Amino acid sequence: MEIKVKNSGVAKLSSWKEPRGNLFVAEGDRNIPFPIRRIYFMNNLEHAEFRGDHAHKALTQAIFAANGSFVLGLDDGETKQEVLLNNPEEGIILGPMLWHNMRQFSKDCVILVLASDYYSESDYLRTYDQFLEFLRKS
Ligand code: TYD
Repeated sequence: MEIKVKNSGVAKLSSWKEPRGNLFVAEGDRNIPFPIRRIYFMNNLEHAEFRGDHAHKALTQAIFAANGSFVLGLDDGETKQEVLLNNPEEGIILGPMLWHNMRQFSKDCVILVLASDYYSESDYLRTYDQFLEFLRKS
């Protein structure tokens, strides 16, 4: 998976795949390139058109399809990219100032997100115009 947008990249989980099931491990500052302060996950997405559609000023996150699949749209203000996430081992780093959304969820999709900080509404850029304006100023 080649990531072309800025402030992004691939995050690989360690995995143990066995007949009795699969185990996946994320460790902060090891295979995840930041200390993990918050974890959230989303399920029951089959009727959602999209999620996300925002950027963060400072937060870094790593996003995974823990189950099923979805399409992740990335936009750094210059380059846009779409990535199909369908492998729990391989996630995407969502660094600061990266507009992103999630869509085309499979029925069984579970999205796992590891975040570098606690929830803070003031870190969000909720409109694309706000995002471009903040990019221009920084
Ligand atoms: P929202 O950011 O709208 O979800 P998405 O961008 O994925 O579509 O979040 C939905 C609500 O949940 C919103 O009111 C903020 C709240 N929320 C928290 O309180 N803490 C969190 O860690 C997250 C991710 C969201």
